[in-house]
Amino acid sequence: MKSKTEVNTQEGNALFPTELLRLDLEKVEMAIREQAKAFDPAVEPYVAYICNTSGKRIRPALAFLSGGATGGITEDHIKIAITLELIHVATLVHDDIIDGAEIRRQAPTANAKWGNALSVLLGDCLFAHALELSTEFDDRAIGQKVARAANEVCSGEIIQTQRRFDFQLSREDYFEIIRKKTAALFAAAMELGARLNGQSEAITTALHDYGSLIGTAYQVYDDCLDLVGDEADVGKTLRTDLNKGKLTLPILNLIAQATERQRERLNRLLLQKEPIDLSALASIADYEGAIDSAVDTGIDLVEQARGCLVGLPDNPHTQGLHNIANLLNTLLVACRQ
Ligand code: IPE
Ligand code: IPE
Ligand code: MG
Ligand code: MG
Repeated sequence: MKSKTEVNTQEGNALFPTELLRLDLEKVEMAIREQAKAFDPAVEPYVAYICNTSGKRIRPALAFLSGGATGGITEDHIKIAITLELIHVATLVHDDIIDGAEIRRQAPTANAKWGNALSVLLGDCLFAHALELSTEFDDRAIGQKVARAANEVCSGEIIQTQRRFDFQLSREDYFEIIRKKTAALFAAAMELGARLNGQSEAITTALHDYGSLIGTAYQVYDDCLDLVGDEADVGKTLRTDLNKGKLTLPILNLIAQATERQRERLNRLLLQKEPIDLSALASIADYEGAIDSAVDTGIDLVEQARGCLVGLPDNPHTQGLHNIANLLNTLLVACRQ
């Protein structure tokens, strides 16, 4: 039986309207598995391993929903979906090295299989390949925006790494980090989906903002999941954030609620860079309240994202964007203790 603190995300794995996007996502799935052939024969088996694991494909789904809502899904949408997903995969390979994570997408991570040195370079190769794909669009701005988003993701990860165990980290700092490391790719998927259809500045900006807000809410959800999720369901190593000194929103909430003495104790634990287990945390302050408050923040962001959709035509893909907001809400609520 599941404990109260475990969230089952199984039904949450399909974050988007699967039937509506089935054929487009199948094309992405096939194309991603084909990518390994484009690499040096010495590198191909490693890429093949990584590309044969399959995640939720949220970023491709967003690019398709944005395209579908604003005029239709073209071959260029398939290409941008593949490109953004490969950038995402490259960042995951690097992120798992940084976090010392052993499981991703229900399978051993690259670093668990081949060590950090090889995995850093494998992530680099995947990045380089994705950026090469991003140059294949007639509109040069597409490649520039993809490269800018990739740069932002890496910058977010760098700032997060600089600020590990930093008790001075503010909520604004936290939101800056997650907007870069996670929301930038969501925003790019949405913006580029509309841009490929020649949409106006007003529409591409509104959809960019929807992606940025949904991406931010998604990282808040993921940060709650790191504390309350069940590894077998989620399919990746959890409980790494605290041990690695990542001060996520629920942890910042906890710190904000703690008394001066409790704060000093938590500060000492963090400064010693000692692994901090959850039972120690729960005794420090209102742990459940800290998760609940993060969930409230996530829900608020989702509501703001919904507001960005007002100018869109009423069609099934626009409805799909509303469905993503609904599902993310449901996932956030399920994190409540
Ligand atoms: C994981 O992203 C990293 C975060 C932004 C939290 P996803 O949850 O989209 O991972 P996959 O692609 O489904 O594996
Ligand atoms: C997201 O942060 C990582 C990237 C955006 C690259 P996390 O470290 O929380 O992601 P997971 O939990 O490992 O998927
Ligand atoms: Mg991680
Ligand atoms: Mg996480």
